[in-house]
Amino acid sequence: MTRVAPRDANESFHHNEPARAQLGGSLAFSREAAMALAQFLEQLDTLAAEATAAMQAANDNEALEAARVEFLGAKAGRLKAAQKQMGAIDKADKPTAGKQFNQVKQQVQAALEQAQQRLAAASTAQCTTAQFDPTLPGKRIRLGKLHPITQTIEELMDIMGRLGFSVADGPEIEDEWHNFEALNIPLEHPARDPLDNFYLATAEQAAGDDAPQMLLRSQTSTVQIRVMENTPPPVRIISLGRVYRPDTADATHYPMFHQIEGLMVDTRVTLADLKSVLRLFATSYLGSDVHVRFRPSFFPFTEPSVEADFHWDDQWVEFGGAGMVDPNVLRAVGYDPEQVTGFAFGLGVERLCMRRHGITDIREFYKNDVRFLQQF
Ligand code: FA5
Repeated sequence: MTRVAPRDANESFHHNEPARAQLGGSLAFSREAAMALAQFLEQLDTLAAEATAAMQAANDNEALEAARVEFLGAKAGRLKAAQKQMGAIDKADKPTAGKQFNQVKQQVQAALEQAQQRLAAASTAQCTTAQFDPTLPGKRIRLGKLHPITQTIEELMDIMGRLGFSVADGPEIEDEWHNFEALNIPLEHPARDPLDNFYLATAEQAAGDDAPQMLLRSQTSTVQIRVMENTPPPVRIISLGRVYRPDTADATHYPMFHQIEGLMVDTRVTLADLKSVLRLFATSYLGSDVHVRFRPSFFPFTEPSVEADFHWDDQWVEFGGAGMVDPNVLRAVGYDPEQVTGFAFGLGVERLCMRRHGITDIREFYKNDVRFLQQF
């Protein structure tokens, strides 16, 4: 802010000459009191000059507001501070000091009003030149919005990015090695049942080739394998994407939905790390006071395995599975389970978004009803 250098003590400033005359003319003042009053009046001079200069120099509302707070602020303004000093002035001098104080205050307020009017006039002039012209051709276009699930995915990536997890991607059409075998789900496992998966009949198979059986991935855990196959530890990734299961659509299930997969492998990663990361994650996404509960569970690719529930808004809700990466999985990708440990989790993105926004039916996301989608 522009400040005016303190003026010479003899230089007069606006209204205080009468006060000076009064000060010099009265023999009743003690020398100390007269000094105190003289100093006070001098200080008011400086204050008035600096305040006026600052208000005049302000060329936008922000600068003017800063000047107002500095000089006229109710709590810590410089005029307020000067007013407090009047308590130390001799009783006989108080009327002089008070009168001068009021004059200076009015002067600063007047400078503020002038500056406000000047800025308002400048902004009106600007508006007038950029006025809306309804006669111009064209029609209003409603801007589109990202789908709420896309918005959720972006937010989840952002949250996990802040926790040091980078994003990894994998194909939606997978082979059985990545969807099952490497995840410790052998051929005879019920999770591979054709009724529970979307197996694909590919052109290569039809041609009689020895082509691998492909399917629409049923979980994002496939990406764990793809990352670990190609990256030496330590690993700290998330993967977000579509997965497919022949589930009948109801309020909480859809045959195509999204999962967020997390994987962290390093020396000495523990279940406590998993819980801390999930709690930080849930707190960032849902808001404060989220608690995480682990219930024992089973997944072929984690040992121990847990179901992760989040407690928020007086309710426990299941969000997905998690656990410590099974040593068989670490071996399948060429890691040494004696050297490294890891945790993994897989959560339903729709369920997270539903919980946060109070959506009671997952099918709303995929009806393409703009009245629903426009809310996000
Ligand atoms: C899995 O898919 C495991 N891959 C999760 C995992 C990853 C465990 C890493 C351990 C380590 P699950 O089948 O429970 O787990 O699915 C995870 C979450 O996906 C569920 O909790 C639920 O939130 C969501 N989900 C499952 N099926 C559906 C569906 N049909 N519609 C919508 N969301 C679903």
